[in-house]
Amino acid sequence: MKRYEQVADELRRRIEQGVYRVGDRLPSVRALCREFGVSISTVQEAYRRLEDTALVESRPRSGFFVLPRQTLAQLPAPTRPAQRPLDVSQWDQVLELVGVPGDDDRLMLGRGIPDLEAPTLKPLQRLLTGLHRRGDVYGHNYDRLAGSLELRRQVARLATASGCLMPPDDILITTGCQEALAIAIRGLGKPGDVVAVDSPSFYGTLQILKANGLKALEIPTDPQTGISLEALELALEQWPICAIQVTPTCNNPLGYTMPEAKKRDLVRLAQRFDVAIIEDDIYGDLAYRLPRPRTLKAFDDDGRVLLCSSFSKTLSPGLRVGWIAPGRYRDRVTHMKYVSTGASATLPQLAVAAFVERGHYERHLREVTRQYQNHRNTMLGWIKRWFPAGTAVSYPEGGFLLWLEMPAGIDCVDLNTRLSGARIRIAPGSLFSASGKYRDCLRLNYAAGLTPEVARAVRTVGETLTAMLAEDRALQSMS
Ligand SMILES: Cc1ncc(COP(=O)(O)O)c(C=O)c1O
Repeated sequence: MKRYEQVADELRRRIEQGVYRVGDRLPSVRALCREFGVSISTVQEAYRRLEDTALVESRPRSGFFVLPRQTLAQLPAPTRPAQRPLDVSQWDQVLELVGVPGDDDRLMLGRGIPDLEAPTLKPLQRLLTGLHRRGDVYGHNYDRLAGSLELRRQVARLATASGCLMPPDDILITTGCQEALAIAIRGLGKPGDVVAVDSPSFYGTLQILKANGLKALEIPTDPQTGISLEALELALEQWPICAIQVTPTCNNPLGYTMPEAKKRDLVRLAQRFDVAIIEDDIYGDLAYRLPRPRTLKAFDDDGRVLLCSSFSKTLSPGLRVGWIAPGRYRDRVTHMKYVSTGASATLPQLAVAAFVERGHYERHLREVTRQYQNHRNTMLGWIKRWFPAGTAVSYPEGGFLLWLEMPAGIDCVDLNTRLSGARIRIAPGSLFSASGKYRDCLRLNYAAGLTPEVARAVRTVGETLTAMLAEDRALQSMS
């Protein structure tokens, strides 16, 4: 963490603990320089960060003051998707997002990519280089179909933090979480079957349903506590649902973590209706608070939860290292893994296993979760300052994605077209629905450095939305 971030963090902590109260004048820049042994510019930068998050304000010639507790923008409303199974659409839109190469010159504010420049990732680069240099044939051979034993041991060890005790033999390494989800769905469903999903839902899973001829039944979801169990129960009574697919921890795109009691109730509900649960935990290790939240799998006593995850959001999406713990569906899922890609690439598995084994993973998580939490606050401050009144925003407790719901009259697919001149792209909400709902919503990423360029881009998005809203209001008043 940079020095100014440490100073800002400490001041934020004191404000949150009531050491400085609303309206209080904060210590002068000089006093903080003395206290922390840092330069004037470091303290000024720390104060600038706190201003960005609307926690303090500077008053000319008077200093810095604590603002009333940030009245955060309202949260998005609980969702109300169509109450029937649907064929999934939106592939063209999804391709526009995922078909763009990593070095595209547009600023991709909507993609789900972590901070790849984090200094705590350097040992991973060294491990990869070392493995390539080793020059023996081991990395060129197939590893076991289930994946490297070293890596499965490390995944099993990490899983204890989320309340799961599973031996390495219960884990299959996959080519990213996307493959884990795909083989889970293909192992459980056949064309025409129905899968219940939280809504909005990760577009990758929806597209797996589409590709395999399955239907999505989108279930109303609360932006703070997740899928509605009442609505899910009604759906289970009414439709022949073959699986429930949810992302209950640090959800993408809404950012919530389902409370533990509700997680337990969800597993019990699935038991009552004898349905499998496909749990996507890809962002779970990025929870801002320790210990990290427990998974649904932690409450699964009869093997019906298929836990899917990867290192794509914590370390590197390019390594394509994921896994699945398929519980009682192991045989079917192993067959699907074989026909999907056979064994996954060997060298990335060895590098990640060594990275975790030497303690680099936990160190890296400690740093990036602090960074992402700070970035979330900064981004919320920017949105408050630059986005139209009436914008509702999620409040993620983990990960690095924000979900915004715009006032009526905004279409975020059009927003992307308008932003193309400025070389900026966001992820429109319609990607996250089987039917293209949520066009009034968008997803933003705050993982990497919030540089002046990113600030300018976020401001451009806000100003473009304000202009679109004004045009819409003018049209309304004419009609
Ligand atoms: C919720 C969720 N699940 C799965 C995936 C796919 O992950 P991977 O890149 O490891 O295949 C993503 C990637 O964006 C995601 O956000």
